[in-house]
Amino acid sequence: MQQEMIIVLDFGGQYNQLIARRVRECNVYCEVHPYDMSLDRIRELNPKGIIMTGGPNSVYEEGSALCDKKIFELGISILGICYGSQVMAHVLGGEVATAPVSEYGKTEVTTDTSSSLFQDVGGKTVCWMSHTDYIAKVPEGFSVTAHTPVCPVAAMEDRKRGLYATQFHPEVVHTAEGAKMLRNFVVDVCGCRGEWRMDSFVETSIRKLREKIGVGKVLCALSGGVDSSVAAVLLSKAVGKQLTCVFVDHGLLRKYEGDEVEAVFGPEGPYDLNFIRVNAQERFYEKLAGVSEPEEKRKIIGEEFIRVFEEEAKKIGAVDFLVQGTIYPDVIESGLGKSAVIKSHHNVGGLPDYVDFKEIIEPLRLLFKDEVRRAGLELGIPAYLVYRQPFPGPGLGIRIIGEVTAEKVRIVQDADFIYREEIVKAGCDKGLGQYFAALTNMRSVGVMGDFRTYDYAVALRAVNTSDFMTAECAQIPFEVLQKVMNRIINEVKGVNRVVYDLTSKPPGTVEFE
Ligand code: XMP
Repeated sequence: MQQEMIIVLDFGGQYNQLIARRVRECNVYCEVHPYDMSLDRIRELNPKGIIMTGGPNSVYEEGSALCDKKIFELGISILGICYGSQVMAHVLGGEVATAPVSEYGKTEVTTDTSSSLFQDVGGKTVCWMSHTDYIAKVPEGFSVTAHTPVCPVAAMEDRKRGLYATQFHPEVVHTAEGAKMLRNFVVDVCGCRGEWRMDSFVETSIRKLREKIGVGKVLCALSGGVDSSVAAVLLSKAVGKQLTCVFVDHGLLRKYEGDEVEAVFGPEGPYDLNFIRVNAQERFYEKLAGVSEPEEKRKIIGEEFIRVFEEEAKKIGAVDFLVQGTIYPDVIESGLGKSAVIKSHHNVGGLPDYVDFKEIIEPLRLLFKDEVRRAGLELGIPAYLVYRQPFPGPGLGIRIIGEVTAEKVRIVQDADFIYREEIVKAGCDKGLGQYFAALTNMRSVGVMGDFRTYDYAVALRAVNTSDFMTAECAQIPFEVLQKVMNRIINEVKGVNRVVYDLTSKPPGTVEFE
């Protein structure tokens, strides 16, 4: 039986991944694809529904992202959101124009509750608007199903053809009943049964991996983080000893982390894996010497990783596949869809152009972090491993602003260790998305005893987040921060100042580089 699927066509908006998330929350599998995906490919995937996302263009601008009119003739239900709604109106012969009044933020919308989209939704409901263009005239066959005082077409539909559109964003939390509207589309309009579960993901992945790999040999890039650990165990269930896990200690790990990873995945650990640890600290430091530009550092670390894996693969012989624990936010933020590049995440955009493996396998590529965790539990990985905070592939390399040196690594490792220890001791770790120390590239004057110091400032960061695409600074009790500050200044040589980062994401990012 074919798995039910909804396709999200990405027109470049910032909330696109959220749409996929909301659909999956209805237990329906969902993939994001570029807006210009071919009709043939869409037919092949045979989705139950399509969602066209928001985006930065105006439909009437030259070269703007549009879709093939025939997409509306496939007999597949389609929901257009914001820019996607304007594309639908424009391509089908309606009229899109610059709105006399732009709408931005929470807006009260009046809905026609007889529409399938607004079933069980209030006749007046708060929605998130963000637009300067609007649909001035709906295409033939469409009726208006929602409006605001300044937006005559806040939603429209042609029920017969299964075409729906909203000017507002149902996917963001500020649209009070948005999740319900998306569920209405997915379940009632598209007729999805909602049977997609993590166990079906695990089962299907194992089957597909076996088919793809056959009797081939596979190397898994293991960092010890949640994602690559889940990928490793998944692969090990699929192909057993055809898999070798290579753990590269690039000298940018947290204090004692190398030994901790080895304790879990090495010969003494609970898994029956081929495990190789490569101590490559010096090699990474040499490559990073004199480099301070964040993207360049990410690319160097990403490339060196691959070179180490290639060397290990040669030693094993006849390894065709490299497995990485890439997850969905890495893919999106590396700009491989139609959204802007934020960072070259080392699993994805940081890859060198040439990689000496027949194929890179990324079994978690379409999962969000919390879904990876659920897959991990499904695979029997202990909860304490599954719920560890994430640690990025480029490691402390992107928590040291500017040039990386062995001395700076030591400083940030020691400061971070103290910070994490005190956070756990104070019982603040529960519910925190991520917390760590970073080394700013700033030195300043201080006084210790009777002496002048000129040392580095360490930055402490802690965020609350559910999906790592957005994050809020966490409110750590002041006395805990003060204790951490005291200990860092007293115990870590080379630091004379500690600051706490209050920035949320956006406008900041979780990591410093
Ligand atoms: P940012 O800094 O992009 O971080 O807001 C969001 C989440 O992604 C992690 N991160 C990475 N993970 N490779 C990874 O595997 C990377 O290159 C990378 N960069 C950031 C970061 O720790 C946070 O959880």
